[in-house]
Amino acid sequence: MSQKPHKRVRKVVFPVAGLGTRFLPATKVIPKEMLTVVDKPVIQYAVEEAIEAGIEHFVFVTGRGKVAIEDHFDLAFELESTLKTRGKNAELEILKSTRPLFGAASFVRQQEPLGLGHAVWCARDIIGDEPFALALPDMLIKGVPGCLAQMIETYNNHGGNVIAVEEVPHEHVNRYGVVALDKQFDDRTHSITAMVEKPKIEDAPSDLIISGRYILQPEIFSKLAEQKPGAGGEIQLTDSMIELLTDQNFFAYRFDGKTYDCGDKIGYLAANVAYALDRPDIGPKFRPVLDQLIK
Ligand code: UTP
Repeated sequence: MSQKPHKRVRKVVFPVAGLGTRFLPATKVIPKEMLTVVDKPVIQYAVEEAIEAGIEHFVFVTGRGKVAIEDHFDLAFELESTLKTRGKNAELEILKSTRPLFGAASFVRQQEPLGLGHAVWCARDIIGDEPFALALPDMLIKGVPGCLAQMIETYNNHGGNVIAVEEVPHEHVNRYGVVALDKQFDDRTHSITAMVEKPKIEDAPSDLIISGRYILQPEIFSKLAEQKPGAGGEIQLTDSMIELLTDQNFFAYRFDGKTYDCGDKIGYLAANVAYALDRPDIGPKFRPVLDQLIK
């Protein structure tokens, strides 16, 4: 198989153009990525994970009704100057730390939500001819270091394309993209021989699902350009990755961390509890309240 030299991963794509129908009515006006886990929007956790991994440029694929995301990462001039006048320095620092450097964020619109694969394709001109990270922000992954940092280390060792995977109960595999593995390289890294999007339970090649973090080579864009709609009538990223698998190496990386699917109500509530309990300023006060509620 042809193997490209390991060009550095400098950019990340966040597809945030989905409709978030599972969270209506909350998402009628507010993008689901702006729902908060404790006191930060879900999207900010993903951006911080990317910063920790050394990513320098953040590409948001947005859609109608998603301007709050753009505003969140912009300079809130009046707010910042009011905080400054009032001497609220800690709050000012919180705002400053959420802003990417000037010119380090790009926003492109997916005019129609035709599927994840189509959303990724919309980022092609901004990514250009280099490998990139892809993170689905509503899959919140709690890990130290973060999942993307772990994956970039794996990419630096192996090159190719790297996909974060995790095991789910067998009866849930039909909801996800599922991978089949071959050669093992280390405790966490295998080569991938096959992938399938939302298989029937009896046809799933394993219980390992694609978990919302990827390092992809730019050749994925030419596959996406030709991609016909697949499962659910949407242009599926997995289908284009299957085609790229015939030309390039794909590695499955079993990351060290816990996933919370914040696109789903139970996952979102669990994330709030887990992150609140873990916060030194909130956890000790929240735990007795939670104990009381459960009794
Ligand atoms: P989901 O499957 O969670 O779909 O998308 P959704 O529309 O966001 O939410 P529900 O199912 O209606 O509640 C997975 C990821 O792909 C993005 C979403 O924003 C999310 O990050 N996506 C999906 C797009 O950017 N465009 C699309 O056309 C579809």
